[in-house]
Amino acid sequence: MTRTFFVGGNWKMNGSVSQVKTLVDNLNKVSIPSGTEVVIAPPALYIDRVRQTLNKEIGVAAQNTYAKCSGAFTGEISPEMLKDLGIDWTILGHSERREIFKESSEFVGEKTAHALKAGIKVIACIGEKLEERENNTTTQVVTAQLKAIADKIDDWTNVVVAYEPVWAIGTGKVATPEQAQEVHETLRKWLAENVSKDVAEKTRIIYGGSVSAANAAELAKKQDVDGFLVGGASLKPEFDQIINARQ
Ligand code: PGA
Repeated sequence: MTRTFFVGGNWKMNGSVSQVKTLVDNLNKVSIPSGTEVVIAPPALYIDRVRQTLNKEIGVAAQNTYAKCSGAFTGEISPEMLKDLGIDWTILGHSERREIFKESSEFVGEKTAHALKAGIKVIACIGEKLEERENNTTTQVVTAQLKAIADKIDDWTNVVVAYEPVWAIGTGKVATPEQAQEVHETLRKWLAENVSKDVAEKTRIIYGGSVSAANAAELAKKQDVDGFLVGGASLKPEFDQIINARQ
């Protein structure tokens, strides 16, 4: 079976009104290969502007959402609000949220379940830290993170799993295609054994962490690498080449 190649651009807390305009103008000029899905995650404040100006063939994601539809949750945004603005996606469980904002795996699971219920698709991020890789606990860490999501949801149709080793994010130290493939294969096997074979086969598992135009094509050749979540390079002209990495 062929899974649709997925390229996400995570702008993180970067941009300004004028930079957002330039980025959108550039994205609107990129020809998206058929069989590739592209989704851009601007900072929350710019989401509406991006959705209104970006070509509809490119999706838009929030970088985070909360697990309630509305109420006294100062500073948070809900999946229902995204829906209201015509936004289809959210990233959840990014390692920066887990590390800096102390989000637990259980909380990420809860937020994933709520977003899916609200009709928002989820890019669910998992990944091990350097010391965990060095201790040979990568499998344990990433499968526990995946389990915390699996415990809270039944339907995986609208979930993309992003494997992002923390040591590779923003460091320029990309996982080798073999390292990425090994973990992706483990995750797919875990899904087959603990959710279903069908979910394992259909769920896209994308790689994130220092993806660039220079390494994307090699990574994309790996059987279980179904695309990328791109941080730094999604703000650069080379993002165009990453979108075309499967070509
Ligand atoms: P990076 O970030 O591409 O800048 O390493 C990836 C991510 O955090 O999603």
